[in-house]
Amino acid sequence: MSFLEEIQRRRTFGIISHPDAGKTTLTEKLLLFGGAIQEAGAVKSNKIKKGATSDFMEIERQRGISVATSVLAFEYKGKKINILDTPGHKDFAEDTFRTLTAVDSVIVVIDVAKGVEEQTEKLVAVCRMRKIPIIVFINKLDREGKDAFDLMDEVEKKLGLHVTPLSFPIGMGYDFKGIYNIWEQNINLFSGDSKKNIEETIAIENIDSPELENIVGEKPAQKLREELELIQEVYPTFDRNAYLDGNLQPVFFGSALNNFGVREILDCFIEIAPSPKPKESDTRLVEPTEEKLSGFVFKIHANMDPKHRDRLAFVKIVSGTFERNKPYTHVRLNKALKFSSPNAFFAEKKEIVDISYPGDIVGLHDTGNFKIGDTLTEGETMNFRGIPSFSPEHFRYINNADPLKAKQLEKGIDQLMDEGVAQLFTLEMNNRKVIGTVGALQYEVIQYRLEHEYGAKCTYENFPAHKACWVKPDDAKSEEYKEFLRVKQKFMAKDKYGQLVFLADSEFSIQMTQSKYPSVKLFFTSEYNE
Ligand code: G4P
Repeated sequence: MSFLEEIQRRRTFGIISHPDAGKTTLTEKLLLFGGAIQEAGAVKSNKIKKGATSDFMEIERQRGISVATSVLAFEYKGKKINILDTPGHKDFAEDTFRTLTAVDSVIVVIDVAKGVEEQTEKLVAVCRMRKIPIIVFINKLDREGKDAFDLMDEVEKKLGLHVTPLSFPIGMGYDFKGIYNIWEQNINLFSGDSKKNIEETIAIENIDSPELENIVGEKPAQKLREELELIQEVYPTFDRNAYLDGNLQPVFFGSALNNFGVREILDCFIEIAPSPKPKESDTRLVEPTEEKLSGFVFKIHANMDPKHRDRLAFVKIVSGTFERNKPYTHVRLNKALKFSSPNAFFAEKKEIVDISYPGDIVGLHDTGNFKIGDTLTEGETMNFRGIPSFSPEHFRYINNADPLKAKQLEKGIDQLMDEGVAQLFTLEMNNRKVIGTVGALQYEVIQYRLEHEYGAKCTYENFPAHKACWVKPDDAKSEEYKEFLRVKQKFMAKDKYGQLVFLADSEFSIQMTQSKYPSVKLFFTSEYNE
């Protein structure tokens, strides 16, 4: 197969949802279709389950699973599909945001009864910002839920999307008869029994033919015709370019648990979803078809065995091929590196691989060279953009609880920050360290891992910040900027990359600062030049 064909047959995407909408179930069913797993239940949930075990033990369990499910790859009808796993728990949202920089499209799963939930809103907002093509899957149609039209309205309003259904349910819950597939123009009958792999598809040439009555019954047939008419009036015809540009989102209905409507979405997905896309770097746009390798690190996973301090850096290949034992340039360090055992990912295993293509993810064993956002090239000096740090929502001082282990603590904090577990700020005034996180759970993770992996002990102390604002003055020499720095001295810090940050203690303080010092711009993500 040619290099070009290899690129064109790749589909790298993420499934996002609010916890419990059915992301894991859908992932598993897609793998079943791909023949990558043989039975349901094979994909372990990486959910943080509250309950019997304490939180950090649960997190360790979850970390163990998440290395195995970080990338789930399989072949389906000649296409190479890479599903990038995203944690559902909101405290790990930043992980998900970073993973979204490595996908070419997403499927959003929504629970038919619950509708659009909070986490879905946040994640879709990020996808929209990046114009990522989105397919919506409305799940759990075997249960009573919201009316399909109401739900599509809700999706448009709450998520700011512009939808068009490519399938439509016939009844719902107890009366769920099946799905009319607008994309393929056929009907799938829902049997409702537990024979999970059986799905009867009936081709329907003409929706007005009396055959429809025979298949689904008189009333449902009538209702379906009316609904399809309404769809034609209200929703735009599907246009692939509009979908690819992020301006139109097709909607599918189904029940992942019953394996119903899953093949339909998969078959449509492989046809319409984009193959690897060009990516902007700080110097130019990089096309996947370029011969020379380029890629970037979007995730770092620490080894689960504390005796081996090596980590796995996940690299998304943007252009060229990644070859084993070939030297590549680590741009930030300006250093040539060779990788003798790059890992490729399959359903639930990883294997050493000789060659990988754009769209693929390779896992590189690393002893501390990589940080999230690092770029690899064949010599060119450029950096991929778009892996921002968002402002944390929680802030605490971190103190050393064992003076003999100061070095270990420093190293541990440094490496955990490289992994993106949290963000570190060093106060300008007194050099004290403040850890910022998206969720409170991370403090437990950090404390636990510092102790178990680095032999260091820490304590926390509250730091009264509300938001981290990256600072950029219009004129660094202006009196206004100098005054801002003097007045806000107590709240000024440097992030891990030496960028200046104002740790504002309230929304009010941000507003006051903005009106008092208009020439000092405040940004809430670290990549403010984007
Ligand atoms: P998540 O990854 O998005 O968090 O959700 P997950 O797939 O784990 O699904 C959450 C729950 O919803 C699971 O039930 C799952 O079986 C159920 N579910 C998924 N798809 C469907 C569907 O189409 N119909 C119905 N009725 N239920 C569905 P659970 O009881 O929480 O877990 P489990 O004990 O079944 O694993």
